[in-house]
Amino acid sequence: MEKQRLDKIIASTGKWSRKEAKELTRRGLVTVDGFAVRSVEEKFDPESVKISVNGEALFYRRYTWIMLNKPAGYLSATEDGRGKTVMDLLPQDLRRQELFPVGRLDKDTEGLLLLTNEGGLAHALLSPRRHVDKVYYTRTAGRLTEEDCQAFAAGLSLEDGLQCLPAKLELLSVGEVSEAHVTLREGKFHQAKRMLAARGKPVLYLERVQMGNLPLDLGLSRGSFRFLTEEEIEGLRALV
Ligand code: URA
Repeated sequence: MEKQRLDKIIASTGKWSRKEAKELTRRGLVTVDGFAVRSVEEKFDPESVKISVNGEALFYRRYTWIMLNKPAGYLSATEDGRGKTVMDLLPQDLRRQELFPVGRLDKDTEGLLLLTNEGGLAHALLSPRRHVDKVYYTRTAGRLTEEDCQAFAAGLSLEDGLQCLPAKLELLSVGEVSEAHVTLREGKFHQAKRMLAARGKPVLYLERVQMGNLPLDLGLSRGSFRFLTEEEIEGLRALV
């Protein structure tokens, strides 16, 4: 693998910022193959050396995977001239890693959004051929019915010509405002909203609660993120 600056390697773990990496290195607390390194500008191949930071072995990952609990009001984009993007929720060191959102949630949709810099796996997960399930919690205006569930299961045809794949609608509570889980195997523009609107039940609130085998971590407050574990990344890889 190509050589990289020591501070970049250390910051890529998300445990230390570049600034902290510089300070720890200055204090002689960073070793490479057992020898203290004094300058973070030195370059190494992170896959062929053993780096230790403050006595702790550094576990280098070529790619970064993050689970974000997206709040409303942020665009699922890497940059936007006008509005806030999900990148604004990440610290500076992570923004330098060329991360991008794995698919899009609407500006007003909340919940599970993955971010990564591993293009191959991200695109495979989004590929329409793979049919990775996305589960949404929704509140709609109007009473959802068993007929709505059957129409979802049969595959809705929308007025604008979109023929939807069979989808699952599970009722959680029914009333003037109803709650349900919607499971989609594709990700067309505003799809959950369009499908529910086609049944005369406009969406009032939408939150993604699961992607494939990965549920939204309930310990993550809105707007915060965490790194995926090795097992979680392997779980995603197994889907494609
Ligand atoms: N479906 C929608 O309508 N919006 C989203 O953000 C995700 C799925």
